[in-house]
Amino acid sequence: MAEAEIGVIGLGVMGANLALNIADNGYHVAVYNRTASRTQEFAAGAGALADRVTACATLEEFVGAIRPPRPVIIMVKAGEPVDQQIAALRPLLQANDIIIDAGNANFRDTMRRFTDLEGSGLTFIGMGVSGGEEGARHGPSIMVGGAEAAWKRVEPVLTAISAKFEGEACAAWLGENGAGHFVKTIHNGIEYADMQMIAEVYGVMRDHLNMDAASIAAVFSAWSSGPLDSYLIDITADVLRVDDAATGRPIVDIIVDAAGQKGTGRWSVIESQMMGVPATAIEAAVAARSLSAMRGQRAAAQALFGLPEPNGNGQRDRQVVLDDLEKALLAGKVAAYAQGFAVMAAASQEFDWHLPMATIARIWRAGCIIRSRFLDEIATAFSQNPDVANLALTPVFAQMLKDTDASLRRVVAEAAMNGLPVPALASALGYFDTYRRQRGTANLIQAQRDFFGAHGFARLDAEGEHHGPWGG
Ligand code: 6PG
Repeated sequence: MAEAEIGVIGLGVMGANLALNIADNGYHVAVYNRTASRTQEFAAGAGALADRVTACATLEEFVGAIRPPRPVIIMVKAGEPVDQQIAALRPLLQANDIIIDAGNANFRDTMRRFTDLEGSGLTFIGMGVSGGEEGARHGPSIMVGGAEAAWKRVEPVLTAISAKFEGEACAAWLGENGAGHFVKTIHNGIEYADMQMIAEVYGVMRDHLNMDAASIAAVFSAWSSGPLDSYLIDITADVLRVDDAATGRPIVDIIVDAAGQKGTGRWSVIESQMMGVPATAIEAAVAARSLSAMRGQRAAAQALFGLPEPNGNGQRDRQVVLDDLEKALLAGKVAAYAQGFAVMAAASQEFDWHLPMATIARIWRAGCIIRSRFLDEIATAFSQNPDVANLALTPVFAQMLKDTDASLRRVVAEAAMNGLPVPALASALGYFDTYRRQRGTANLIQAQRDFFGAHGFARLDAEGEHHGPWGG
């Protein structure tokens, strides 16, 4: 008998925890994993939730266990495995069943899958899920893209399993087709920028202020009761305090300085470039991960060039520098989030999604990796200024930048003078300094373009297109 109200395919860390979360919220869930032993292992570990879990050995059994119309969540590795899973499911499903891809899909794949399923009677939802293992189990942030009618059918279960911010569910329908996966991608791009800027200020503390991991942890802990209060600042303090069992040293000091990346940060940058919207802090963060992975080249370059002589080290009181670092991080955050939201605004136009910016900020306030107090302020700023061109122009964030930009400037300058790389903070500063200056320098670029290619330019004092008297 078909008892289950929903199904989950893929019992890796995220899928398994999502299935337990669903069962925990009173829903009967059918589960299936390609490797049957994993399914059995999952069922055996379901404990008190076991009577709300139907573990299935075959896909046929799985589909048969769910009451039609069936919502089926696929949580497998993004890319080809999703297409294979959809192909395997299609002949078994019936009209009105909903396939929900909950992985970190590229939204362009999601758009293609929508088109492929059109006319098949099946419905597709592309769903971004953030919060890692813990979030999946106890409440992630859920970003849904697809037909609104399909969302309405799964809304009860998705809101039940989502994180709550002051009682409000962190799950929402954001727009048609690829909207949910696009927003998740930008979430991750911002996550990259947030993490990179935190790593940069950590570097200033470690290599400029010569602080050890425990002292740096104390600084991050102190910051977590101020405007930087966020999950990422909290876990930074936590990881800095953990010692390695084998050596007794702080574990961060023995972790290789080469960051991994699975693609979502890069996609954010590619899409922002395609739409002509600068996302400089995110770009810098993605590039910094790539540079971090070039360990051999970095070692060779250090052997060739050495490190710059410290310049100005110790001249400023440590607490004064730390206060500047806190404010610089906040200023950098404003730039990164302003950029991420500007990219979403452009995509909303391009793909006709009508993305609700305040709602996006609201569902990021809990559950997801970038959750923070700051996002609550962003939600308020967008609900009060729905048509603002850039978050930095809203009164609260403009004031935040006015209060912090001098610190950002000092931190970037001091880092530059001491040879400490702070590429994301420097990019944020460059973005802000360019954005705030009415008379830029592109007049010269226009002159050059016209000189070598007769591309034409506009004049400040006359309408129309003009060419210069370049001679020759
Ligand atoms: C989240 C995370 C999650 C995952 C990313 C990290 O929101 O829960 O973003 O999706 O940790 O895959 O991406 P990288 O492996 O590229 O750092």
